[in-house]
Amino acid sequence: MIRLQGALPERYTDASPEELAAWIGAAKRSLGERLLILGHHYQRDEVMAWADARGDSFGLSRIAASKRDAEFVVFCGVHFMAESADVLTAPHQQVLLPDLNAGCSMADMADIDAVEEAWDALGRVTDVERIVPITYMNSSAALKAFVGDHGGAVCTSSNARAVLSWALDPAGSGVAVGEKVLFFPDQHLGRNTGFELGYDASDMAVWNPRLDMGGLEDAAVKQATLLLWKGHCSVHQRFRPEHVEAFRAEHPEGIVLVHPECAHEVVVLADRVGSTDAIIREVEAAAPGSTIGIATEIHLVKRLADEHPDKHVTCLDPLVCPCSTMFRIDAAHLAWILEGLVEGEVRNRIVVDEAAATLARVALERMLAIT
Ligand code: 13P
Ligand code: SF4
Repeated sequence: MIRLQGALPERYTDASPEELAAWIGAAKRSLGERLLILGHHYQRDEVMAWADARGDSFGLSRIAASKRDAEFVVFCGVHFMAESADVLTAPHQQVLLPDLNAGCSMADMADIDAVEEAWDALGRVTDVERIVPITYMNSSAALKAFVGDHGGAVCTSSNARAVLSWALDPAGSGVAVGEKVLFFPDQHLGRNTGFELGYDASDMAVWNPRLDMGGLEDAAVKQATLLLWKGHCSVHQRFRPEHVEAFRAEHPEGIVLVHPECAHEVVVLADRVGSTDAIIREVEAAAPGSTIGIATEIHLVKRLADEHPDKHVTCLDPLVCPCSTMFRIDAAHLAWILEGLVEGEVRNRIVVDEAAATLARVALERMLAIT
């Protein structure tokens, strides 16, 4: 998806890190309680230093929903997170994204037109009333609205298991909402969670939006309990089983932590699988002297290494994998946004139109109620 972020004025591009820090600090003091800065764990340190709250996408959505006092929520993360914050905040609050080009390639893999086409195609071979659409938080507000409109829910990497259990009730302990799930955009999170819940490969099919009927025979659609949209994260997809094997060969006592956006063949080799928040908790809980290999975005891994000098924290991919869109948010953009607010100018406001917001809110609030 193309979004437009113009070049910053020279005042910001030519500024030294010290100048930028001084301007951000001054603007923050001047805005006081009117301002809330949220920082996703993948943000650079120069940005995270100013966050009033840090979190994974689930934690930040909860904070956005609960902090009603701040007039301005500056979201240091990516576009879909800022959209969700706009949906969950009150009408008097405004959400700003410091760089409009901070998108998410995975979120862009499930555009609403392709999803609507898939839904129509599925309706020709199966009863869509029995399909629960579940979208990962990493998706557009339009897709969340589609999900809300069709009885589904949003999930994040920290609650995908709870949301899929709500939809399908695999333990047979209550009432299932449906018989099948269409899960998008991340096939890996869907697959990993499906396996965790006791489904096997024959219960899952990958829906390729570029092919007729998702590239599936009618029988495969009918048989699958989990239809997994063919999307992925380019950052987490880089991790391979060889990385885990090399780490284990060098550190037989080491601990392997991976994000569930990694491929299943990596996940099965890990000691723990979890969201960014869960990875942080695991590192905190590890004994001093532990060696920990992590499969997630490099800014988080580096921060964990810095914050835990008594443990050896390392990225499993020696070539390192930054998220290039998260990386777009830097101190210069943050200073530009905050100084605009001080001058009375709201820059880069993220607004979800009311019709989509109403339905997206249904899907997001369902998630918050489930978890
Ligand atoms: P979390 O849900 O763990 O914050 O992850 C979001 C994300 O974009 C990971 O790539
Ligand atoms: Fe999107 Fe992957 Fe970046 Fe997360 S790490 S924001 S899923 S591209």
